Amino acid sequence: MSKTARADWWKKSVIYQIYPKSFRDANGDGVGDIRGIIEKLPYLKDLGVGVAWLSPIFASPMIDNGYDTSDYTAVNPLFGTMADAEELFEEARKRDIRIVLDIALNHTSTQHPWFVNASAHGDKRDWYWWREGRCGAAPNNWQSIFGGPAWSQTDDGSFYLHLFDKSQADLNWENPAVRRAIHDAMRFWLDKGVGGFRLDVVTVISKEPDLRDVIDPRPAPLYRHIAGGPRLHEFLREMRREVFAHYDCVAIGEAPGVDPERASKLVDPADPMLDMIYHFDLVAMNPIIGGDWDRVAFKRIFSTWDKGIGPRGWNSVVVSNHDLGRISSRFGDGSPESAKMLLTLVLSQRATPFIYQGDELGMINAPFATLDEIDDVWAKTTYRLAREKGLSEADAFARTVAMTRDHARTPFQWNASANGGFSEASRTWLNVNPNHATLNAAAQTEDVNSVRAWAKHLIALREDPLWVFGAFEDLAPGDPDLFVYAREHQGRRAIVALNLRDEAKPLPAYVPAHAPLLRNVDGALDMLAPWEARIVGA
Ligand code: NOJ
Repeated sequence: MSKTARADWWKKSVIYQIYPKSFRDANGDGVGDIRGIIEKLPYLKDLGVGVAWLSPIFASPMIDNGYDTSDYTAVNPLFGTMADAEELFEEARKRDIRIVLDIALNHTSTQHPWFVNASAHGDKRDWYWWREGRCGAAPNNWQSIFGGPAWSQTDDGSFYLHLFDKSQADLNWENPAVRRAIHDAMRFWLDKGVGGFRLDVVTVISKEPDLRDVIDPRPAPLYRHIAGGPRLHEFLREMRREVFAHYDCVAIGEAPGVDPERASKLVDPADPMLDMIYHFDLVAMNPIIGGDWDRVAFKRIFSTWDKGIGPRGWNSVVVSNHDLGRISSRFGDGSPESAKMLLTLVLSQRATPFIYQGDELGMINAPFATLDEIDDVWAKTTYRLAREKGLSEADAFARTVAMTRDHARTPFQWNASANGGFSEASRTWLNVNPNHATLNAAAQTEDVNSVRAWAKHLIALREDPLWVFGAFEDLAPGDPDLFVYAREHQGRRAIVALNLRDEAKPLPAYVPAHAPLLRNVDGALDMLAPWEARIVGA
């Protein structure tokens, strides 16, 4: 398909992120798998999502749960076989659900044969970044995103770059053979009928080859430094030309370090590289649980990105994913009302909404009590470094619980049975949140007032082009309590009024007080109840 004829199904669809390890375990080994996803396709269909993005399913030692690839064209046996994957693609296609695969292309596992060859000084030596140490220390001052230096040594003392864990060596995209190998892998899956890719941290694939010191080597400034890499556009244009332009597919870039100006270049329809990106401004807002957070700054992110990319390129809304605490624990109070309000926010933007598995139920953070309940490599590094700095076990543990990505990775809560219906195993890889006894999909499917019913309703609302394409305007950017915005399309207008607080607030005069189209609570119309979400036709 030529680039001018590319369809825009991905603008109209809701994207549902599946974390395969935690979605549904069909073979009873305590870990989710592909057959589990096949089993639950009817659930996704019923919810109304058009795209399922799977966190990595490729072969991997799973130190970072698949973001450490050891073979880009093999299915991880933990998740099933190639035949299972092909069946998934086919069953999804029958239901009109596109499967988007996650590809970690900035780095591979150090167990990938490419790295094994490179570290033995084979013909793939130049596929990775090797540098001389400085007096025995790391070649530059870059810090790994997970903590500690971004350099480790192989047995012969050579330093290799890893922006993430030491088991994730950065690929040298300067080398055309690397780029060709990744293009080949992408084509391999697209030929099998997948609907596109989510490209892990794609904005950092191009590095200035001198790899010089940075002024501030902490994660966010380092991301900003590398994301402006000199050959990023060239690499992405090449990928477009070589791969995406030949398929009806979507290319979604995970885009740390970019602001709307940089991002708009990546998704400019006149010079397309990616179809959409997901930025890190919302990811970076990680309020301390129960603590206060800056609602005005939060709202500004939505307006800034809408204005910055607007209708020309295309935005996405990613407020939650497998790297963050649960959305209703971060920005709400874990109640169904706050979960519904936050889902309304996500699903009523001019952007493709991403729902992370379980958010449609209002799943919340996990009550981790001991370190051995946590698996996350980043969390373990955080704990180790905190202890090395002299923090007590209790303080280091508290720091780890506050940041661990495992809050979002506890198994999906299908029903009230043992393991929440996720698995028949005696032990699951992470414990199921004990609140599955009351918070689960089965209970919510029967309840017309559930969070899931609300999510389903909002997803269906997006069949109206007003909600997909309508212009967005924040009606009160300075209001520290409410987020009230208008969506307008071809002379039709709707207003969304969200109460971002757990206390009632008077309805502002600019919101019509007549009967709402949708409301998540009952009560007087002249007030916005705690965590109320209201949609009014105007
Ligand atoms: C971003 C992914 O979302 C995260 O889970 C992973 O650890 C890093 N990239 C490294 O691949």
